[in-house]
Amino acid sequence: MNKIIYPPDFLWGAATAAYQIEGAWNEEGKGESIWDHFSHTPGKITNGDNGDVACDHYHRYPEDISLMRQIGLKAYRFSVSWPRILPAGSGIVNSAGLDFYDRLVDGLRAANIEPFITLHHWDYPKVLYERGGWINRDNLPYFADYAAILTKRLGDRIQHWTTFNEPGVIAIDGYISGEHAPGIKNDWKKAMQVTHNLMVAHGLAVQAIRACDPSLEVGIVLSQWGVDPASDEPADLAAAELSWNSRETAFLHPIFRGHYHPQMAEALGNNFPEVHSGDMALISQKLDFLGINSYSRSVIGAQGHISPIPGSEYTDMGWEVCAPAFRRLLNRLNHDYHLPPIYITENGSAFPDNLSPDGKIHDERRLDYLRQHFTQVRLAMQDGVDVRGYFVWSLMDNFEWGHGNTMRFGIIRTDFDTLKRTIKDSGEWYSRVIATNTVE
Ligand code: FCB
Repeated sequence: MNKIIYPPDFLWGAATAAYQIEGAWNEEGKGESIWDHFSHTPGKITNGDNGDVACDHYHRYPEDISLMRQIGLKAYRFSVSWPRILPAGSGIVNSAGLDFYDRLVDGLRAANIEPFITLHHWDYPKVLYERGGWINRDNLPYFADYAAILTKRLGDRIQHWTTFNEPGVIAIDGYISGEHAPGIKNDWKKAMQVTHNLMVAHGLAVQAIRACDPSLEVGIVLSQWGVDPASDEPADLAAAELSWNSRETAFLHPIFRGHYHPQMAEALGNNFPEVHSGDMALISQKLDFLGINSYSRSVIGAQGHISPIPGSEYTDMGWEVCAPAFRRLLNRLNHDYHLPPIYITENGSAFPDNLSPDGKIHDERRLDYLRQHFTQVRLAMQDGVDVRGYFVWSLMDNFEWGHGNTMRFGIIRTDFDTLKRTIKDSGEWYSRVIATNTVE
């Protein structure tokens, strides 16, 4: 097999999110989040799992930093629990919460690992939700206040700041499928107002971070799946294009073009959100980087979404493995928008893992998934897409939202009974990729 070499300063990392790994859900002054509430509601999560303990990273973070160092990570992407910092979402600051992230960031720096911070990865303060949540515009400035508190405390040690992780998932899974907190179903009107308001909150936070320190780099993380047509028939091509325009552009267009795609507006009809004057300018402020999370693609034909694709491999999540679609996606984004540098902020796969008698986890399928996707991203870079780094999802097996502990995405195994961590074969392989800057 050919050797694929990456640029010398390519930033190899791994990602996690607060609710998925921290645990300590009610310790040291932390307030309740909508995910605490949702996962404590019977029937919402597979096996009745919750994030009360998760990987217990809140207490075991020194061990986790050692494992990161052992793998040789150059960067680590994590998110902050908003109600750990502001138990009621606004107002009184919980200094123990701030101290935790302070120690984490110091630990990362001491290990020579670049921290990438995400302000919000879905664990929204329950008190704010009870006051209208993301629907209520009066709540939006609280996100900027929270951003400013963190920037003042950590801005001297963190260069890369992300406002939101996958705002689209907050809106769609929270208000249409109801599979995520707050668990509302089929409310397109609310989902679209949340979509827009999240963008306004993003704009306010970008301003707040830059007001604290204009030298920091600010971006957002979007979930983008490639969309491929079922065939070259005109009806299939048109259906795929309509699907892309009316869904996949939902955040890209406002942020990078300052308006919603006309086909999205048309598709939404009466559910199109209320937009105030000045919103689009706020939303489309220049960003320093764009984070892309991508796991798979959709295949769309005139008949709709086509799945399964005969002959394709699928992960435990039911997501098709199709690495070439990643290269096509990146090229399309680069072609359609004037983008800042890109980081792949999440990519990875859930497969069942077994602990072998030799004490190892021989996760060939995950390793192979990563090898294929790393390769396709390098090809996209050679096509001209400016990708600066790559964060594998995830550093360790963790609480996978509605699926509870059943989906293993980690390059480190978490034993959820003993909380013992074991680096999988994919993690050892990744370590060699990082050390040599080469995929073979
Ligand atoms: C992404 C989320 C992340 C994780 C992966 C599998 O949508 O950002 O928290 O759940 O999917």
